Amino acid sequence: MVRVVRATQVEIDTAVQALRDGELVAFPTETVYGLGADSTNGAAVARLYDAKGRPSFNPLIAHVADAAAARALAGFSAAAQRLASAFWPGPLTLVLPRLADCPVAELATAGLDTIAVRVPSHPLAGAILLAFGRPVVAPSANRSGHVSPTTAQHVLADLRGRIELIVDGGPTPMGLESTIVACLDRPVLLRPGALPRADIEREVALAEVPPPAASPNIDDVPIAPGALPSHYAPRARLRLDAQRVEAHEALLAFGPTPAAGAERAAAVLNLSRSGDLIEAAANLFSHLRALDASGAATIAVMPVPRAGLGEAINDRLARAAAPRP
Ligand code: TXA
Ligand code: MG
Repeated sequence: MVRVVRATQVEIDTAVQALRDGELVAFPTETVYGLGADSTNGAAVARLYDAKGRPSFNPLIAHVADAAAARALAGFSAAAQRLASAFWPGPLTLVLPRLADCPVAELATAGLDTIAVRVPSHPLAGAILLAFGRPVVAPSANRSGHVSPTTAQHVLADLRGRIELIVDGGPTPMGLESTIVACLDRPVLLRPGALPRADIEREVALAEVPPPAASPNIDDVPIAPGALPSHYAPRARLRLDAQRVEAHEALLAFGPTPAAGAERAAAVLNLSRSGDLIEAAANLFSHLRALDASGAATIAVMPVPRAGLGEAINDRLARAAAPRP
């Protein structure tokens, strides 16, 4: 006699409530365990990067319950629709153009105008996503530089004390991350993974690109950067570590004491008045965009400490400040 057991509603409700409260919840998918956060809550997403200890803001995958929910986030080309109907739910992530009214925090997509979306087939993941009703961003639930976890014990070993909840669904069935295909221009394989390339090529032709830079099990290197549009770069010039504001500059402040001359800045926004790096990360991309839109030719940026999330914030600011071709 076959017994079919399901995770109880209690576990699902607990996970959903934790996500609503902005907490970090590890849960199983058919590939590996993910570390989930409410994608629409910038502070929760910032805490997620902090827990992983990533030195930069590598964009995250938005997990949703079904293709209809994915269509509220991203634009689907004909090829993307074909892949979604063939392989969702399942271990395929699609990188697609982000819709203008996409509710996912900008920090989660690291300021890109694309978004990675996936509909996992694991019943526990599916039940949580359906009950939560919002996209959940979830990188593999390991510390930066470690391999992806396939059991709740792996997650505990890596993230104990850094996250609020682990939903134990036993070992993950596949043990390898989802395959990532970008459908922006032509479909491009960005990361080989649990869905074989040959299966994908039965549905759509894949353009040839340089092989991915990193093993799919090590998640800190942004994949195939050459094949993707660059990170959001402000039109304005960024002047980092500014101690004072020069005429006509906008000011991106940090901490309780604005830089000298702040009163004559063209526009001022503060990443965090209290000097909180989680809050600063959550505000980073939207503040940069808003100051850029003010029309100032230069944005003076006050120093941000390099501790904790400060490392990733400084990494991002340095890239935004780098001269562009
Ligand atoms: O199987 C999986 O995909 C697991 C489970 C938990 O769903 N998740 C996972 O996430 O492997 P993560 O964050 O460890 O790896 C996601 C990869 C990263 O290398 C990231 O650079 C890439 O996806 N990525 C995310 N958004 C992207 C985007 N808009 N463009 C290009 N690459 C993107
Ligand atoms: Mg990973």
